[in-house]
Amino acid sequence: MTSARQQNIQVVAHRGASEDAPEHTLAAYMKAIEDGADALECDVRLTADGHLVCVHDRRVNRTSNGRGAVSALELADLAALDFGTWKGREDSAESPDWGDPSLTSVLTLERLLELTADSGRRVELAIETKHPTRWAGQVEERLLQLLGRFGLAAPASAEDSSVRIMSFSARSLHRVAAAAPTLPTVYLMQFAGPRLRDGRLPAGVRIAGPSIRMIRNHPEHVGRLHRAGHRVHVWTVDDPADVELCARLGVEAIITNRPRQVLTQLGRT
Ligand code: G3P
Ligand code: CA
Repeated sequence: MTSARQQNIQVVAHRGASEDAPEHTLAAYMKAIEDGADALECDVRLTADGHLVCVHDRRVNRTSNGRGAVSALELADLAALDFGTWKGREDSAESPDWGDPSLTSVLTLERLLELTADSGRRVELAIETKHPTRWAGQVEERLLQLLGRFGLAAPASAEDSSVRIMSFSARSLHRVAAAAPTLPTVYLMQFAGPRLRDGRLPAGVRIAGPSIRMIRNHPEHVGRLHRAGHRVHVWTVDDPADVELCARLGVEAIITNRPRQVLTQLGRT
């Protein structure tokens, strides 16, 4: 049964509709928008020549036909790689065809911002800074510059913002808050600890981002976080039983590789 509360949960496409299409590609994000996702999650890293690209791993080895660390490659090096062919190899003897090669080339954050701006409806962005300590503030600086160009760095209030910044690094979130105090931030947590137990997030952070494993093991912490005034965005929620649990607990957002299935389960399609 679908409750009104379930209807309010924001469904966030993790790395795009990444169960159906190669993660962090235009193909995956276009599918997520078509599927009706409320928001898109992406990880960002800096290239050697200072561009923010949407890549999860430190290296490109798993998700492309190239090798090497993103931080050691220039955007032109990355643009020569194919980020689509690896996906689907397990289920098919044939090379998957994702259509126009530009749909599976490296995705810059700038291009993703253009895609959401042109989507014709409100599609929010949840941007995760990856290993930001390595760059001593440059990731956040570039990120805020880019958001500024799209008019997204200084929303009137956190509630008005269609972008939020997520990180496992409190330092990264502090840098964002210092430069862009109205941009909402999300503190990601992988393992249960005192912050989850006591509902204490880093100063200025309003949204907790616990893993689904933490919520399965400690569902009582959702209420504790809510009572402390925080919203709760859970990742990565693909199993229908976990969707049900999150809905029952009243979390504000579900981050999933399967946006269409989750929307259907929540009665939104
Ligand atoms: O949305 C948060 C989640 O993406 C964090 O884990 O490893 O998938 O970036 P990871
Ligand atoms: Ca992520």
